[in-house]
Amino acid sequence: MQVLVTDPIDDAGLERLRAAGHGVETAYDIGDEALLNTITDVNALVVRSGTDVNEAVFEAASDLIIVGRAGIGVDNIDIDAATEHGVIVANAPEGNVRAAAEHTVAMTFAGARSIPQAHARLRTGEWAKSEYLGTEVNGKTLGVVGLGRVGQEVAKRLESLGMDLVAYDPYISEDRAERLGAELVEFDTCLERAEFLTVHTPLTSETAGMISTTELELMDGGYLINCARGGVVDEDALAAAVEDGVLDGAAVDVFADEPVAPDSALLSVDNIVVTPHLGASTEAAQENVATSIADQIDAAFAGAPVMNA
Ligand code: NAD
Ligand code: MLT
Repeated sequence: MQVLVTDPIDDAGLERLRAAGHGVETAYDIGDEALLNTITDVNALVVRSGTDVNEAVFEAASDLIIVGRAGIGVDNIDIDAATEHGVIVANAPEGNVRAAAEHTVAMTFAGARSIPQAHARLRTGEWAKSEYLGTEVNGKTLGVVGLGRVGQEVAKRLESLGMDLVAYDPYISEDRAERLGAELVEFDTCLERAEFLTVHTPLTSETAGMISTTELELMDGGYLINCARGGVVDEDALAAAVEDGVLDGAAVDVFADEPVAPDSALLSVDNIVVTPHLGASTEAAQENVATSIADQIDAAFAGAPVMNA
């Protein structure tokens, strides 16, 4: 079987596919046109978030059995087109959860204590000690939008640092939230009560743009952290809210278009900390998701059940 890998994944995943006897070709940064030409006799396509797996790809890929997402979000894959063409879409939903949660906690502190800004100034010789008065998380309220795998791990970690938890997630029960130490509340209440708001939903038609100017005004101060998906939070609205002092700051790992354009409003506001989609970028997480997706592809080729499809 032929496997095409168009976003970088850990060698452990490539080796596992080769050891199973499959032909594996890597083509990182392949353009749209080249992808359409290459995909014609491919049986499995492996991606992360960098490849747009759209309808044209499925139309060109007559031998495709499975698209494997080495990670969680499948918003870059046209699921309807996959279904129409009888192609399985599988992800690796567990392997990078801890990495994403840890990065969210790191971004929370980076924002609250202006660590990147102070670091950059010290590197240029400025001892700007008097300019950075941070905020402690202890005793503050964390609002979690989307209390799924990553949201829960973030909640656990920040609760252990003294935060109170409120959560908005229309798909979980009050009991479940309570067991996780969080009070389940309506969306507006979550925004109003959160002193730190952390977003952990998938990007869907329902969540796209769910946090914009009106929602940010409900927060009235505090910090927003988005390590989920860029399109969930309106970027111009967030940049304006921090610039105008509606929010104290923000920390953003994910962008509506990636790589983010250098003239994005989010890159020009002092109190917004940014990273280039690093949430899952740890050695352990990358090895986990790469080997997990290799196993799923092997299962699909063998006609065995594919988990997470
Ligand atoms: P998950 O499916 O386990 O959890 C998502 C939660 O969001 C679920 O509990 C669901 O009920 C909830 N949800 C869905 N629609 C909602 C809505 N309209 N309002 C509020 N809640 C809603 O997913 P996960 O594994 O926790 O991943 C969360 C997000 O983080 C995804 O977007 C994923 O792609 C992203 N992610 C990013 C990185 C990164 O590198 N920055 C790494 C891992 C995951
Ligand atoms: C994910 O959804 O798993 C993340 O986007 C991580 C990634 O693949 O970079």
